[in-house]
Amino acid sequence: MMDLKGCIFDLDGVIVDTAKYHYMAWRRLAKELGFVFTLEDNEALKGVSRMASLEILLSKGNIHATRQEKEELAARKNGWYVEFISGMKPDEILPGSVKLLRSLRKEGILTAIGSASKNAGTIIDKINLRDMFDVIIDGNKISKAKPDPEIFLRAVQEMKLSPPHCIVFEDAQAGIEAAIAGGMKCVGVGSPELLGRADLVIPGLNKITLEQLRAL
Ligand code: BG6
Ligand code: MG
Repeated sequence: MMDLKGCIFDLDGVIVDTAKYHYMAWRRLAKELGFVFTLEDNEALKGVSRMASLEILLSKGNIHATRQEKEELAARKNGWYVEFISGMKPDEILPGSVKLLRSLRKEGILTAIGSASKNAGTIIDKINLRDMFDVIIDGNKISKAKPDPEIFLRAVQEMKLSPPHCIVFEDAQAGIEAAIAGGMKCVGVGSPELLGRADLVIPGLNKITLEQLRAL
C-alpha cells in the first residue's frame, strides 16, 4: 500500500499514439537514404531521444554521417513529424486517459508529464489537455535521456514530492528503467513481455483503478 501523491505520465504511447507518426517520418527518411525501416525496427526507438533514434536508424541502414549531416537529417525528420502532428485533435487521446486524470486530480493527487519529446508541448495543446497537468517536463528541459531518471526526478521535484510517493506510467523499456532508477513505482502500458520490469503492466489507461494504484 503506498501513500500516492503524484502520477507522472509519459506522453507518446501512453496518452496518445504518436509512435505511428514518428514511424512514418523515420520510414520516409530511411527511404530517402535508400533502405527499408520496418515497424519492428521502430520498436527500438520508443522512448529514445531524437538524436539517439537517428543513430539507431543510421546503423540499421549502415550509413555513416558527419555531425552536421546528422543534425540536418534529424531536422528533416522532425519537419515531417511536426507536419503529421499538426492535425492532431482531442479524439486522438487514448481511451481512459481523461477519466483517470480526472479521478486522480479529484483525489488531490498531482499529475505530470515526463516526455523525452521536444514536441510534447505542441501535442498537449493540440489535444487540449494542458489543464490536466500540474507539471510538464519535456525534452527541452532535460539533458539526459531515459533510462536516466533525470526527467522523472525533475517532475517529482517540481511537484514538490518525493519519489516513493509517485507512480510513473510508461510504454517504453527505457522509461521503466528510468522510473526504477529514480526510486518510483512504475506501471507499464503495453505488453508484459516487453515491460516485465514494471510493478504492474496494463494494456491501456482504461484498465486501471485508483485502488489498484494505491495497492502498489
Ligand atoms: C519520445 C518518443 O517520447 O520522444 C520517441 O517515444 C521520440 O520515439 C522522442 O524519439 C523524441 O521526440 P521528439 O519529438 O523530440 O523528436
Ligand atoms: Mg512513450
